[in-house]
Amino acid sequence: MLGIESSCDETAAAVLCSDAGLLSNIVASQDAAHAPYGGVVPEIAARAHMSKIDAIIDRAVQDSGLTYSDLTGIAATSGPGLIGGVITGLMAAKGLALSLNKPLIAINHLEGHAVSPRLTEDCAFPYLLLLVSGGHSQLLSVNGLGDYTRLGSTIDDAAGEAFDKTAKVMGLGFPGGPNVERWAAKGDDHAVKLPRPLLDRDSCDFSFAGLKTAVARAYVASDGSDTAKANLAASFQRAIADCLNDRVARAMTQFAEGRDGPYRFVVAGGVAANATLRDGLKSVAAERGFDAIFPPLRFCGDNAAMIAQAGLERLQAGHVDPLNAPARPRWPLDAEAAKQAPASGAGRKGPKS
Ligand code: KG4
Ligand code: ZN
Repeated sequence: MLGIESSCDETAAAVLCSDAGLLSNIVASQDAAHAPYGGVVPEIAARAHMSKIDAIIDRAVQDSGLTYSDLTGIAATSGPGLIGGVITGLMAAKGLALSLNKPLIAINHLEGHAVSPRLTEDCAFPYLLLLVSGGHSQLLSVNGLGDYTRLGSTIDDAAGEAFDKTAKVMGLGFPGGPNVERWAAKGDDHAVKLPRPLLDRDSCDFSFAGLKTAVARAYVASDGSDTAKANLAASFQRAIADCLNDRVARAMTQFAEGRDGPYRFVVAGGVAANATLRDGLKSVAAERGFDAIFPPLRFCGDNAAMIAQAGLERLQAGHVDPLNAPARPRWPLDAEAAKQAPASGAGRKGPKS
């Protein structure tokens, strides 16, 4: 299965074999192109995907040791994401599917993250998933392929977005997460008092916008020294950790209700790279009798191996898509939950996630 990913700022392609495993996995990051702006610029992302996608796909096929005609199917992210990028990858996939006469499998990017632990672990359904990336913060019960119950999601910013904005405010560089983590290691996480939004609410939803504003205020009020930056980075990271730990603990209770163990808890998305957050989540899982599974970092950030995994599982289950499958900027995994309040920021085009 060829997997193609282009929904944000990584242009990626991978070849996955049901017997031999992952044969190739190419990820081209656009970090350098977006760094001057402190965030992903959709127009720049779309153009960068377009200029690279053919070469990345070619390399993935070459590295796999196979030829295009050996492929069984073509799986591509078809949403949710930045529409220019999604269209680029999906159209490349459609062109290949048409010319090679192979099935197209249109993948929800979030499903890719959801099945990513199954690339490396014997991670049977069901499991609880915390997806924390630059675009998403969600707690999902992954009941089976295509069967997801959203237990909670962000009502404003994603966790990674909060890291990126915090780094931007303090001029720590893009992407923000790794930089904030580095600075936080030198700071005191009790130095600055910051809010823990929504923790008093009886739900598994997240909110990070208020925290981001509080960080900006605290930084303006500080002397801007390296010590002030380190203390603020550490205090911010602690606040995020407290929020994630609290929500995850609640979600674990909900997940376990009416279900027999063993209970598994998977953390996916780029923010899962953060060691402090990982440690906190591991403790929460241990306290509640959940096995904590952290996929290898190369499968946590955006990649095409997870899209190929979802494609393979879908094809094996008999799902293929027509060549007019749409590119979808918004595509919730759990459509029912997305309609309910509090919606995760429903805009003109419907619920985001
Ligand atoms: O999953 P990902 O590669 O892309 C998507 O957003 O879909 O996640 C990227 C996000 C960025 O917001 C980045 O700042 C964050 O993950 N991130 C981190 C760390 N490494 C990456 N956040 C906190 N700590 C890190 N070490
Ligand atoms: Zn992602």
